Amino acid sequence: MAVEMHAGLASEGGSKLKMLLTFVDNLPNGTERGTYYALHLGGTNFRVLRVHLNGQRSSIFEDEVERQPIPEHLMTSTSEELFDFIASSLKEFIAKEGDGSNISTSRRELGFTFSFPVKQMSVSSGILIKWTKAFSIVNMVGRDVAACLQEALARKGLDVRVAALVNDTVGTLALGHYHDPDTVAAIIIGTGTNACYLERIDAIIKCQGLLTASGRMVVNMEWGNFWSSHLPRTSYDIDLDAESPNPNDQGFEKMISGMYLGDIVRRVILRMSMESDMFELVSPKLKIPFILRTPLMAAMHEDNSPDLREVARILKEVFEIPEVPMKARKIVVKVCDVVTRRAARLAAAGIVGILKKIGRDGSGGITGGRSRSDTKMRRTVVAIEGGLYSSYSLFSEYLHEALNEILGEDIAKHVIIKVTEDGSGIGTALLAASFSS
Ligand code: BGC
Repeated sequence: MAVEMHAGLASEGGSKLKMLLTFVDNLPNGTERGTYYALHLGGTNFRVLRVHLNGQRSSIFEDEVERQPIPEHLMTSTSEELFDFIASSLKEFIAKEGDGSNISTSRRELGFTFSFPVKQMSVSSGILIKWTKAFSIVNMVGRDVAACLQEALARKGLDVRVAALVNDTVGTLALGHYHDPDTVAAIIIGTGTNACYLERIDAIIKCQGLLTASGRMVVNMEWGNFWSSHLPRTSYDIDLDAESPNPNDQGFEKMISGMYLGDIVRRVILRMSMESDMFELVSPKLKIPFILRTPLMAAMHEDNSPDLREVARILKEVFEIPEVPMKARKIVVKVCDVVTRRAARLAAAGIVGILKKIGRDGSGGITGGRSRSDTKMRRTVVAIEGGLYSSYSLFSEYLHEALNEILGEDIAKHVIIKVTEDGSGIGTALLAASFSS
């Protein structure tokens, strides 16, 4: 990972890791004031929120948030339909403010969390490089995402300015850093996966000449697209990739994130049921891609009942396999375990790659030179967000286990993985505040 990070920073297209500039050179510090909005278009859900800031770090006041699943048809429709839906949701949200006695009626400022790869031109503009996850709207790639939103807001008659266009990882880093200045990186492990971190501007060789006051810039790695010949790929990964909406793309994401884990498990169970008498018959439902959602896979994995009745219930409900024998239930749990453990360990290895790149993996600065435990190690916080990490306890357990194993306990105890709830939304509102006009 660290090698590919260097290559991606050296030249455009130097690596499958895009290492995108964000133009975020300063993270919010607590002095921000005012009321700001954030819209978050993620992989599965859409959120609108409003945040009040009164210039004190400890008192962010998120006074309203509305979440809804993104209607599936919008993921593949036209950009106008998608952005009209987003603008309408904001309009309804604002309408509920009534006469807004405590809300200024001057032009509203908004941060847009857009959880897809964007080549930023500035902190408030950038063009979509490609879609990921379940999105695929052809007339959108290559267009300025903030301008599309701004136009839709105008169509709805809203006087709102898009002050910041932000990847979800960057929003998470902003909120993480706001609460804890030792935060140096942020990871999302949800429907998709990605990471960003604070980099020295002189290490970003591909943007030579660009100066920032802080001498740093947040880099959006787009690690979902990471690939290395060292990564062992199974036939299930190869088939899943070939049948996905974006073949040959997002290889790391397809081994780690919530959109795919359930489907890897389905593929393994399908093969087992075809090659053994595990379930007597091969249920046709087992052949339907993405029919097994990752939350249900997690529920099977974490079934603690003595007769694994949750496993049996889900296999019946999803795949219409009746009366699964105990032996087969146990095998299904084992499959979930292997798939999740691999995902969590890959994510942990990715985190260590970032720590290595920024000299926080304990490999530099040996004081006495006797052992790794002599290493001077600064407290290092990695903000994390996403349902897969926060709702799937075995996933997070395996991730921590792997971090300890790779770094060694003496180093790992200085690395804090901190869940940053709603970071991608609130953090983006904070960035809108620090970059507002
Ligand atoms: C996108 C990233 C995003 C991640 C997590 C990936 O599919 O490419 O931009 O940060 O999902 O939402």
